[in-house]
Order: sequence, then C-alpha cells, then structure tokens
Amino acid sequence: MKTMMTAAYLPGNSTVEIRTMPVPEPGHGEVLLRIKASTICGSDIRCIYHEHLGKGPERYQGVIPGHEPAGQIVACGPGCRRFDRGDRVIVYHISGCGVCNDCRRGYMISCTSEKYRRAYGWQRDGAMADYMVAEEKDLIALPDGLSYADGAQIACGFGTVYEGLEKIGINGNHAVLITGLGPLGLAAAALCRKLGAQRIVGIEVVPERKKIALDLCLCDAVLVPGPDNVADVKRLTGGAGVERAVDCSANDAARATAIRATRKWGRIVFLGEGGHVQFEPSPDLIHDQKTLYGSWVTSTWLMEQLVERLVRWNLHPADIITHRFPLERVSEAYALMASGKCGKVAVCADEELR
Ligand SMILES: NC(=O)c1ccc[n+]([C@@H]2O[C@H](COP(=O)([O-])OP(=O)(O)OC[C@H]3O[C@@H](n4cnc5c(N)ncnc54)[C@H](O)[C@@H]3O)[C@@H](O)[C@H]2O)c1
Ligand SMILES: [Zn+2]
Ligand SMILES: [Zn+2]
Repeated sequence: MKTMMTAAYLPGNSTVEIRTMPVPEPGHGEVLLRIKASTICGSDIRCIYHEHLGKGPERYQGVIPGHEPAGQIVACGPGCRRFDRGDRVIVYHISGCGVCNDCRRGYMISCTSEKYRRAYGWQRDGAMADYMVAEEKDLIALPDGLSYADGAQIACGFGTVYEGLEKIGINGNHAVLITGLGPLGLAAAALCRKLGAQRIVGIEVVPERKKIALDLCLCDAVLVPGPDNVADVKRLTGGAGVERAVDCSANDAARATAIRATRKWGRIVFLGEGGHVQFEPSPDLIHDQKTLYGSWVTSTWLMEQLVERLVRWNLHPADIITHRFPLERVSEAYALMASGKCGKVAVCADEELR
C-alpha cells in the first residue's frame, strides 16, 4: 500500500488546494478506508467552499473536507469488533461520543459532547482524499446490491430525506410538493415515488435540475419559483393543495409556499438549512390544523433500514449523480457543484470511475 496520499483542502475562497500527506493509521476501534466515492453537499458549498461561515456543528476546522464517504476497508486498528479488511462500507458522517443520550439513540448528529463530537469533513478528516480513517462504530455495511456511489449519498442526502419523510409519513394517498430540486430535493422525489406518492410536484429555478427531475420521472410537474406557486400547486391537486410538503431549498419564499400549498391537516418538513421564513401562524398553520416538522440528518439505525429498503426497491441514489471526477480534478467538482448546473457531483476512484 502507498505511504503517501493526495488530499483536498478548502481555504474558503472558492478554490481547492491539493496536498500530499502521509496515509493515516487507524487507531483503536478505527479502520482505514480506501475512498471509492465521495459526494459534494450543498452544505459544503454554503459553509466551507466560498467562505468558512459555519458555526457550531458546521464549523470547518481546516481538515480534509468531504462528509459523504463510501469505501473499502484496507486496514483495521486494534479492537475492531464487527468489520474487517475488504468490507464495503458507508460512513455515518458525524462521530459522536457514543455515550450521551442522543448517541445512544443513534442520532450522533445531535451528540451533546463538545469534546468528542466531530463530523467527518468538518472537524475531523473527511473523504476528499485517497484514504480516510473512520471509527468502526460509525460504519454502515454497504450491501452488494448498491455501488459505492450509491452509498456515498446515503448518510447525508438520502438518509436525511428518509428521516424527514418518515416524520411526515408518505404513502399512496399523498400528493407531495418538493421545493428545491438540488441533490436533496431530487432524493426526496425519488424516495417519495418508492413510498407510493401519487403526484409529485417540484419547484426549482435551475433548468438543469428541472430537467433531471423530469427525465428521471422523479417529478410529475416542475414549476419555476414565482408568486403564483401556491395557486399552481392547488390547481395541480384538485384545488386543495398537497397533503405533504418537503422544503429542500432553504429559500424564504419557497418555505412559505411549502406551508401555504399544503392542505388542511397536512404535514410539512423543513430540511433546507439557514435563512429565514415569514408566514402567518393563524391562517397558514393553526386554523388549517397543519403540522410543521424540522428534521436534521438521521440515525444509524434508520440509515441501516434505508440501505435495506434501497436494495428492495431497486433504487440507486447514484442515478442522480450527473458528474464524476477523479481526485486530481476535485477543484472542478466543487466549482461545478457551486454553479448548481448539475445533479449530484461525485469524486470517485477505481471501479467507480471506470
Ligand atoms: N436538514 C438536514 O439535515 C440537511 C442535511 C443536508 C443538507 N441540508 C440542507 O438542505 C439544503 C439542500 O441541500 P442540497 O445539497 O440539495 O443543496 P442545493 O443548494 O444544491 O439545493 C437547493 C436548491 O434549491 C433551489 N432553490 C433556490 N431558491 C428556490 C426557490 N425560491 N424555489 C425553489 N427552489 C429554489 C436551488 O436552485 C437549488 O437547486 C441545503 O440548505 C443544505 O444545507 C440539510
Ligand atoms: Zn451533506
Ligand atoms: Zn454523544
């Protein structure tokens, strides 16, 4: 095995630095992964690539970025209990203390330990490198039916969406509105289809993303953002609006549309992060008996359940990847994702590039 590796750094001025550094060694309870696929998230662009804006759990500490890893174990440190060399795995992207209440529920995203909670790609080295060290407790087995590129999108993207959809409950009775068809919104549409939603309406500005949603039959209709959105959604749903709405845009106006285009007794979940929203609680929510949920990432157990369901449904998250780059061209990958003119963007190696 190589002793030196290539890794990316994000200085925060919309560029990417490539560095050469020693391949890290796994410590107790840790494994070394050969990274096969590492996808880029909207959060990477928003909080790290353009500027280091993140605070708290989104604070970037100058580490190797990349919080959506999938790879193969090439070495195990002492004390590993379940996984072994050769295993294909996904990494749940936040390493928690393991012993606080949130960690015990599997929601390491919400770990309350300031000392031990560290997210891959934010506070500890992530996946934009040839190799990465991960803790065994953060690994999810990747079944043969899914590729590494499928796997990379499961923790943050599809896992986040699955969690939100489980909260609001989606089934064959539902028409669903998805505001924002970036990677998260496209994942929401793909999962809503498999969960049985009968009519899926999207709202998206970027023509490339609208096209992906329609070409892959993820949405039945896609609207351009505008003042008539609520009326248009109602028109597309027999006059009453959708039963369920998912905001994946983080846009103020789109969030208000998600609330207002939802019918009485409906449920809305906010996944898009940052920004604001303005709505009138009485007419928009209270008098129509609606429920608004917030949802942050997912848990390790729900992620394991999703992996099993994806295989059963024959749903491949990699279908929404429109561009793959080798690690040497990682700067092009970030620039493309920042432009928005793409579906999901992945940095890949070995069989995922062939
Ligand atoms: N809740 C969580 O746990 C969680 C996890 C991962 C990402 N996120 C957040 O979710 C959001 C989506 O992630 P992504 O990777 O898809 O990011 P993204 O920025 O690529 O996607 C957002 C999309 O919303 C679209 N948009 C902007 N204004 C709009 C409007 N007025 N109406 C409709 N669409 C509009 C944009 O064109 C873009 O395609 C980001 O804010 C990200 O930080 C949240
Ligand atoms: Zn992410
Ligand atoms: Zn914890």
